[in-house]
Amino acid sequence: MARNLQHSMLPCPDGEDLARQRFVLALKTHLGRRLRPGNRTIWDRAVRPAFEAAHGRAPADRGEIAQAMYAHPGYQTWSSLNRCAQEMMWEAVGEAVFRDSPRMSDEYRRLSDSRPAGGSVELDEGFEVPRAIRRINIHLQPGGYARSEDEADVVAGAFYEAGGALYSMGQSVGTRESKAELVQRYLAERYPGFQPSRVLDMACSAGGSSVPYALAWPEAEVHAIDVGAGMLRYAHARAEALGARVHFHQRDVAATGFPDASFDLVVSHNAMHEMSQATQAAMLRECWRLLAPGGVCVHQDVPLRYAELDEFMRFERGWDLKNNNEPFWEAYATNDPQEMLLAAGFPAESIHVGFFEQIDGSMRWFLASARKPA
Ligand SMILES: C[S@@+](CC[C@H](N)C(=O)[O-])C[C@H]1O[C@@H](n2cnc3c(N)ncnc32)[C@H](O)[C@@H]1O
Repeated sequence: MARNLQHSMLPCPDGEDLARQRFVLALKTHLGRRLRPGNRTIWDRAVRPAFEAAHGRAPADRGEIAQAMYAHPGYQTWSSLNRCAQEMMWEAVGEAVFRDSPRMSDEYRRLSDSRPAGGSVELDEGFEVPRAIRRINIHLQPGGYARSEDEADVVAGAFYEAGGALYSMGQSVGTRESKAELVQRYLAERYPGFQPSRVLDMACSAGGSSVPYALAWPEAEVHAIDVGAGMLRYAHARAEALGARVHFHQRDVAATGFPDASFDLVVSHNAMHEMSQATQAAMLRECWRLLAPGGVCVHQDVPLRYAELDEFMRFERGWDLKNNNEPFWEAYATNDPQEMLLAAGFPAESIHVGFFEQIDGSMRWFLASARKPA
């Protein structure tokens, strides 16, 4: 298996959509790989010397670095283009998503009625979507994660999958291995022979990471939760289309409602960086409660650790916080998963925090894992 699987829930782009998507991909790749390193050069060669000459000292913190960089035309140009490229990405997939949404809704109805893989989706009409998700369109996704306009609205999931694929390619993430397959490889190396019979994927969005667990361990019962109803409908139909038996639920990672000790493996993928530190900590406490003795949790996320960066790079990597509606970017970059796992109850010797490289070497992901004593 790999990333970017084809299935009947995907929006169907026409020739013009594809041309726009190719352009956005080229623009994003150029901005990210070719031009972005130049921000450091602008800082080292122009902005920092000018700041020091004017103030007689180095900048005190990244707030001062930001003010100085915002005034430089080179940085202004890169930053504006980067924002435009993100907006254009959503426009380039949005045409197809909206044009195709009646067909996708019908496909959702067909697949959720027939359930060829035997999975399910459980939505909760009274569910209170957390405020931050309701009020902010994270990374500018049109309609946001919580969009759900009628009983068969799948637009949020379609946007997430189509936009996410383009975004990842623009970040040059390889397509040979999905994030869930990377975690499975990590588990096989760290815990040889580990074979979960109940798996929970927390904050699953369109289910891109839930499906590989169901396909890798067909005997296992795989559950996945998220707060967005439109995400979950899409995720359910997508999983059914791919022949993966997954049970999706509209629940909060901070209080999942599953019984104690009901899972052997609890995972999350690219989720912590979109949660407040309080929610991250609550999610890890929930992992401790939900795991059966001997059970493992693994949380995979973007490799953004401010402790590894100097103050300029903290400013530079913090671009998404201000410009890409990522309200929890710094809360994640400065969190301490080791401490949070300890506070959740996991023994120190069971905790492992570090990086793990994707199989094609295109990316190293951040992983935090821990095991409940048998
Ligand atoms: C970046 S996406 C996750 C990507 C997904 N795990 C994957 O691998 O494709 C973040 C998801 O977290 C969900 N989320 C945020 N806060 C949550 C919470 N408190 N409980 C459950 N889901 C949450 C959002 O709705 C969104 O779908």
